[in-house]
Amino acid sequence: MIGLWKRWKALEARGIMGINRRNADYVLKYNKRSLYPIVDDKIITKMRAIEAGINVPEMYGIISTEKEIEKLDEIIGGRTDFVIKPAQGAGGDGILVIADRFEGRYRTVSGKIVSHEEIEYQISSILTGLYSLGGHRDRALIEYRVTPDPIFKSISYEGVPDIRIIVLMGYPVMAMLRLPTRQSGGKANLHQGAIGVGVDLATGLTLRGTWLNNKISKHPDTTNAVDGVQLPDWDGFMKLAAGCYELCGLGYIGVDMVLDVDKGPLILELNARPGLNIQIANDCGLTHRAHAVEARLADLKKQGISETPEERVRFAQELFGHVQPAEI
Ligand SMILES: Nc1ncnc2c1ncn2[C@@H]1O[C@H](COP(=O)(O)OP(=O)(O)O)[C@@H](O)[C@H]1O
Ligand SMILES: [Mg+2]
Repeated sequence: MIGLWKRWKALEARGIMGINRRNADYVLKYNKRSLYPIVDDKIITKMRAIEAGINVPEMYGIISTEKEIEKLDEIIGGRTDFVIKPAQGAGGDGILVIADRFEGRYRTVSGKIVSHEEIEYQISSILTGLYSLGGHRDRALIEYRVTPDPIFKSISYEGVPDIRIIVLMGYPVMAMLRLPTRQSGGKANLHQGAIGVGVDLATGLTLRGTWLNNKISKHPDTTNAVDGVQLPDWDGFMKLAAGCYELCGLGYIGVDMVLDVDKGPLILELNARPGLNIQIANDCGLTHRAHAVEARLADLKKQGISETPEERVRFAQELFGHVQPAEI
């Protein structure tokens, strides 16, 4: 705990953003309340993305009532792998990633065998709101299971790594690769025990990482270096993230993406209150970068113009990219 406090103090000098500033100056200021459902409900996000021509994992079905649970078999069809998740869940809770069938049962991505009844029970818990924000009744979403691109094999343990980019008014400001570990049960959520690794915005090269609030450079399960890895199609990810501003209208978001071996980059979810640990993974604060974007916006406003996603990506890469660890 002391280590973390010290690191946080050191980062303060580098413009680290705390939770109060994030909420007051960014979330409240840039995220219109009425637009929250678009990002807080993964089914609505998915529909919006499809309309905008943005790729997402295919939806197999929705279960909204107890009665509809009996439709599960029909929704799954003959598939051997799929994912069940609460539409309004967060932090990886309540998500069941089924990787295979096994003698009339199912095998999760972390190797646990579950019965059909257990899956039904899980769906029922989702419906009652066990995993939803504020405990509201929820819906269960059944979707395509993402198979990560083999590039991640050496630096990831089971499950699917994801790429999070913080986007301010359509400008990417910071990125992080999140790697599942044995501890995180195949999920890429940091508080479940996943690793956060900083990413250079200009190049898509990984920097060092943070795990359970410790600074690390090797994956604890695979022992391979997590830094210096070139993420494929980096500009594609940056453009995808920048375009999510047009998709949802929220000005301060965390865009979570995955790289599927067959389908390429996909949007997994959008977050209206993205966490602040990304700063530890990047050894860099968000404040200065956010101010630079705000200055740019003020400038463009004076000239009466706005920028396209491509132009915004270029701006971010020129200004925030190629950061040397010693400088940040
Ligand atoms: N379709 C999927 N295929 C494989 N893994 C998934 C899928 N959806 C989610 N996951 C895993 O679960 C994690 C959390 O999923 P996400 O949709 O981001 O929900 P949450 O809001 O709970 O974070 C992801 O980072 C990923 O590791
Ligand atoms: Mg997530």
